[in-house]
Amino acid sequence: MLKSALSPSLMCADLFKMKETIDDFELSGIEYLHIDVMDGTFVPNFCLGTDFCRRIKEKSSIPVDVHLMVTRPFEKLERFPFGEGDVVSVHHESDIVPHTLDAIERIHARGADAFIALNPDTPVDVLDCYTDHIEGVLLMTVYPGFSGRPMVPGSLEKIRRVRDYLDSIGKENVSVEVDGNVNYEKAPLMRKHGADMFVVGTSSVLGPGDLKENIKKMRKLLDEAVK
Ligand code: DX5
Ligand code: ZN
Repeated sequence: MLKSALSPSLMCADLFKMKETIDDFELSGIEYLHIDVMDGTFVPNFCLGTDFCRRIKEKSSIPVDVHLMVTRPFEKLERFPFGEGDVVSVHHESDIVPHTLDAIERIHARGADAFIALNPDTPVDVLDCYTDHIEGVLLMTVYPGFSGRPMVPGSLEKIRRVRDYLDSIGKENVSVEVDGNVNYEKAPLMRKHGADMFVVGTSSVLGPGDLKENIKKMRKLLDEAVK
């Protein structure tokens, strides 16, 4: 089983305390910084953009985990700074397959890992055309676009189906990232069902309480889930 990794969702962080927050992430060994990008068309919201991403890359050594909730990502991803060690997720639902494969090629050309993102209503078998080209699957456990939304029923079983499918075709090293309502009660269940990368937002780590303590609590829960 892949080691668990935390990817705090920066759209949930306090913009006025971002520097201290990132410093705390670095002290806590956070593996990725989740940057939600929205174009107001693919999802009915706007969020973080190219300048934000650029400033984060300039100020922090933590790899970014860019979540492109945009139409035609193969045209837009060039505007974002990312490279070796970073993750970029494009949605299956954002374009027909050839374009999405084109986006994956462009992500790899810059040395980053490519994840395919699936919305809650998208069946697992669409992964068939991607599994030879990706390093991970980003499973939306909420309908995308806003933080604070409830987990979609059936999400745990879907995590298990994706993990079992990937393992059945020899893709044990392809990561399963979960995004949305990853709270202290659901995260261990998500881990047990096969998730290894966790977008943590207002539902847990970036919610109430001391940030460093919240991170320790989440890590302990995730480790205990697979003992
Ligand atoms: C939703 C975003 C998530 C979200 C997570 O579209 O992709 O990253 O901000 O926040 P919570 O934990 O509140 O669901
Ligand atoms: Zn996200």
